[in-house]
Amino acid sequence: MAQHPEDHFKNVIAHAKEYGYIFPSSEIYDGLSAVYDYGQNGAELKKNIRDYWWKAMVQLNENIVGIDAAIFMHPTTWKASGHVDAFNDPLIDNKDSKKRYRADVLVEDYVAKIEGKIEKEVEKAAKRFGESFDKEQFLTTNARVIEYKERGEAILKRLGKSLGNNDLADVKALIEELEIADPDTGSRNWTEVKQFNLMFGTKIGSTAESAMDLYLRPETAQGIFVNFLNVQKSGRMKIPFGIAQTGKAFRNEIVARQFIFRMREFEQMEMQFFIKPGTQKEWYEHWKETRLKWHHSLGLGVENYRFHDHEKLAHYADAACDIEFKFPFGFKELEGIHSRTDFDLGSHEKFSGRKLQYFDPETQESYVPYVLETSIGLDRMFLAVFSNSLQEETLEDGSSRTVLRLPAILAPVKVAVFPLVKKDGLPEVAKKIIDDLKFDFNVVYDEKDAVGRRYRRQDAAGTPFCITVDHQTLEDQTVTIRHRDSMQQERLPIDELRAKIAAAVDLKTWLK
Ligand code: GAP
Repeated sequence: MAQHPEDHFKNVIAHAKEYGYIFPSSEIYDGLSAVYDYGQNGAELKKNIRDYWWKAMVQLNENIVGIDAAIFMHPTTWKASGHVDAFNDPLIDNKDSKKRYRADVLVEDYVAKIEGKIEKEVEKAAKRFGESFDKEQFLTTNARVIEYKERGEAILKRLGKSLGNNDLADVKALIEELEIADPDTGSRNWTEVKQFNLMFGTKIGSTAESAMDLYLRPETAQGIFVNFLNVQKSGRMKIPFGIAQTGKAFRNEIVARQFIFRMREFEQMEMQFFIKPGTQKEWYEHWKETRLKWHHSLGLGVENYRFHDHEKLAHYADAACDIEFKFPFGFKELEGIHSRTDFDLGSHEKFSGRKLQYFDPETQESYVPYVLETSIGLDRMFLAVFSNSLQEETLEDGSSRTVLRLPAILAPVKVAVFPLVKKDGLPEVAKKIIDDLKFDFNVVYDEKDAVGRRYRRQDAAGTPFCITVDHQTLEDQTVTIRHRDSMQQERLPIDELRAKIAAAVDLKTWLK
């Protein structure tokens, strides 16, 4: 059953809470804006996504290793990285509503509306032309669509240029020319656009005199750069090689919204790939392709991903793009691929006075390596997987079911085991099966309500398999295994269960 995207998004948030995936932080005190806690199922799903990334990046690549650097770093790190001077977002206040917005997001949302119009034209034409409709041809030849597309592109280009030149007056002029109003109140009474630094400051030290000003890291990447030589030397790594890391990052986002899409405390999964200067173009293409393949491997639909080249390059990049995902509120950034040149290592050399160079044994030369970075938000990936998986289905008999079609390899609980009834020794057999399977998989037991209701409960929680123990089990040691997605049931000997489930969550099958 197709739902309106806004309704779907509301359902995602409500479902995440009802099924123990995500709770508002400190809810008993009415919550804390844009901060969320992961519940019993959410923590498992998050861990499984992290593992899926870690295994693909570290375990399967002999030239990539993983580290775990501290959140606190020497404050000069952030001077060298450029974050103290350049990690800003352009903000604008509405004088009437007193609400604060990101000026660039206001413009981007305006362009997203134009893109929405293109989608509507496509839908209308698809209906009109029926089976003979050729979407590609329509997109490239329909005059109205081309006009919308060119308009959107021109606006984004101008925005990118103004931001790149720090021409904030032009960003304001653009907002005025496009007659963008406060989304909440419709007022167009705007202040000037100002820059706002996103880093959270804190202090370390026990007395006021000795306390040192620190920042909570706004990206995990710098923990990798400052450890470049430690890892290279201790691991005897040869270029090209990568260092990966997952961990918390903090940004004082001007507008944190859209649930876990934009948070002030979030987790990143980043990999810095150290390469020879001059080879960045080919590695950029390599990592774009490799990362997209990783996303596609999860089966969320290839049509839900697209690349978006950055108009405005960050202070450290010579090329950059996003992998965007179709979230319930439209296509938005999920992961960034950045060619960071030698900006970071070169800058840390200057600020620390230490050499951060690689000695190439073949050419007998030392150089500061270039870096290709892949950077994905774990919470954003969680939202992509969760929102895509939550579906309302109408069944053949006209009834409906809510099903969370999580990729089996990521599902928090792989198997639910039920006794058909709570007597006749069936619960004991069910618990014996759990005792055996729990060493390999996360398994739960459920004996409450009719089996049909238990199936529905597990469908909504995202459990890929349900095993039912019935009276026949006592005679022939077989059980029913029911598949969440197809709702098909099959009869299997108990001693074949492990292999059946293992095959469905085998990393090799998913990542091949
Ligand atoms: N080291 C590069 C870097 O941090 P970024 O594009 O600023 O690049 C990378 O961030 C990824 O981190 C984004 O693609 C997004 O998935 C995630 N991310 C960034 N800010 C976020 C926020 N406020 N909340 C949740 N995820 C965020």
